[in-house]
Amino acid sequence: MTEQKDVFTRAKEAAQYIREQGVDDLEVGLILGSGLGELADEIEDRVVIQYTDIPSFPVSTVEGHAGQLVCGTLGGKKVVALQGRFHYYEGYSMEVVTFPVRVMSELGVESLIVTNAAGGVNRDFTPGDLMMIKDHINFFGTHPLIGRNNEEQGPRFPDLSFAYDLDYQELIKEAATELDLSLKEGVYFGMTGPTYETPAEIRMVSTLGGDSVGMSTVPEVIVARHAGIRVAGISCITNLAAGLGGELNHEDVIEVSTKIRSSFKSLVVTLLEKM
Ligand code: HPA
Repeated sequence: MTEQKDVFTRAKEAAQYIREQGVDDLEVGLILGSGLGELADEIEDRVVIQYTDIPSFPVSTVEGHAGQLVCGTLGGKKVVALQGRFHYYEGYSMEVVTFPVRVMSELGVESLIVTNAAGGVNRDFTPGDLMMIKDHINFFGTHPLIGRNNEEQGPRFPDLSFAYDLDYQELIKEAATELDLSLKEGVYFGMTGPTYETPAEIRMVSTLGGDSVGMSTVPEVIVARHAGIRVAGISCITNLAAGLGGELNHEDVIEVSTKIRSSFKSLVVTLLEKM
């Protein structure tokens, strides 16, 4: 029986395949959340690669996620966008959820913009707000770096004091001011889903310091930081979290993220220009 190749080898092979499609010198990775994938359509001089064609790459199942890598130029930077991410609630392991970030790292990406649709826990937030992520709380009950550490990639005990890059936070604020966008800021609280939370859980999230809540982002950011990638994060507040407004459903989440995507797009493109 042939032994399963380790994740580091598989990430190298996936990156090699992507390079063979003519993609190189990448600067910034983009992970686009539910309803926000359309930003990738603005990437110029594009090379589009289906996840199914990339060796070892997982395939996305959730509605509203496309399942392709779009490489090219956006905001004057060479970017690779993940149009459709992998969620823990889909049944993927943490290793699979974060595999694309490892591939980005192998491709030489040094900065990552992560975005998501999230529920608003902070009572000052309204659906349609954009929230700059200042920090996160990992409430997944697991961790993507459990397992053998690859010292080549990063340390066994990585520091997350500055998980979300302070310089990038300044750039996001500058971009929002220039665009005359009102920008909220806060802590993203990551839970597994796939249920939305109960009102009692949202009271807990609030007590523990969460301002937005969602089912993604935290694993990818941890793996990115481990690999030394600088991270900028933006939540689109698509709804008031459970117990703070009406009932929750995926259709409304997609509808609101679709509505705010023009301001979201301008914010990300302006941030890229400044990076
Ligand atoms: N909770 C968790 N994930 C979400 C929410 C929410 O309220 N809205 C969008 N994604």
